[in-house]
Amino acid sequence: MFDFDRVIERRGTHASKWDNMARLSGIESPDAIPMWVADMDFAAPPGVTAALTADVQRAVHGYYADTGSWAGALVDWMARRHGLRIEPAWVSPTPGIVSGLGLILQAVSAPGDEVVVFPPAYHAFRKIIVANERRILDAQLVETQGNTRARYAMDLDALRTKLTPRTKVVFLCSPHNPGGTVWSADELRALAALCIERDLILVSDEIHCDLVFAGAKHTPTLAAAPEIADRLITCVAATKTFNLAGAHVGACITSNAALKRRLDARIAASGLGSYNAFGMAATEAAWRTGEVWLDALLPYLAKNRDLFDARIEAAAPGARSMRLDGTYLAWVDLSATGLSPEDVAARVAKRARIYASPGTQFGPGGDTWLRFNFATPRPILNEALGRLDDAFADLRTGEMRASR
Ligand SMILES: Cc1ncc(COP(=O)(O)O)c(C=O)c1O
Repeated sequence: MFDFDRVIERRGTHASKWDNMARLSGIESPDAIPMWVADMDFAAPPGVTAALTADVQRAVHGYYADTGSWAGALVDWMARRHGLRIEPAWVSPTPGIVSGLGLILQAVSAPGDEVVVFPPAYHAFRKIIVANERRILDAQLVETQGNTRARYAMDLDALRTKLTPRTKVVFLCSPHNPGGTVWSADELRALAALCIERDLILVSDEIHCDLVFAGAKHTPTLAAAPEIADRLITCVAATKTFNLAGAHVGACITSNAALKRRLDARIAASGLGSYNAFGMAATEAAWRTGEVWLDALLPYLAKNRDLFDARIEAAAPGARSMRLDGTYLAWVDLSATGLSPEDVAARVAKRARIYASPGTQFGPGGDTWLRFNFATPRPILNEALGRLDDAFADLRTGEMRASR
């Protein structure tokens, strides 16, 4: 029904993933493959294309009137997909989640305040905290053995000892990027209890909540810990789920009317209370019509994940790809290959001509890791995996020699 194998040429279309690659990575090769930034190489759900086409054909592109139907579509989506009941009145649209995080910081903290991050964590958290003249308080994630493979866990006892009177906000990524950790209700409740105990605002960035694989289930923080509702802001978007990152629309949700007023004041102060009509049309259409597409996408991504994990671990003996329960961002530790991080980076960039996100971007604990975006048609993924196989071929002959 949906042809996720179809390769769509994105070079030369202002696709950041493809057209910013050479500038950011230094990989000049015309056949380079981007496996960095988190967008997918698949066509959006047909209902999105239809909605945008209708707008284009009408050809009048005036100011957008928010009639409430956008928030209504989000409310319906969260109820249907996650069993979460939210009210349209709790929703503040922002031009993307990252800008929402910056506005939240301005609303609830002051320059010099500390913001907790759980590294390795989505790099834009660090950037937006620093850009707003707040300070990062790192709460290092630890690896624990899950049922079969390692996963990340929060060490809240260690965090408790690091908190200071200047600590005001916690940025949680749920599911976690990178590592694809889907937090359990118990883990979320424990974090919520700490936030209550230490008077912290919890920002739960759930942009990856729809990209969770069979066998795992996303629990919204609000559902796990309703007792924290007054100090919780949940951030969600249709843009990651439905591959609409260029639409740049997100939602900040809180049931605390006073907190929402503070956030809305920052939104107004930045002149952001009027919305991009294309972004609103695309994301509303996605929530209203995209569910069948998403249900077809998830098994395709799961197969890409399995293929990627098996092939990277076979290609580079010692490589370990964290088992993702969610997201399409493989998180690979290459420390046990015996290669230095510089050597690994050179092999991936120069021999394989692949741009993966360097693990150092994600803060402490990422040094020996690379993040690979595998949300691409299988012909591109197979080409990338073949190149990675070649880039580490000498390690395998070395291994064979040693075992003889
Ligand atoms: C955890 C997380 N939050 C936010 C974003 C980006 O959100 P936006 O493009 O709406 O700013 C990403 C993108 O990868 C992400 O992984």
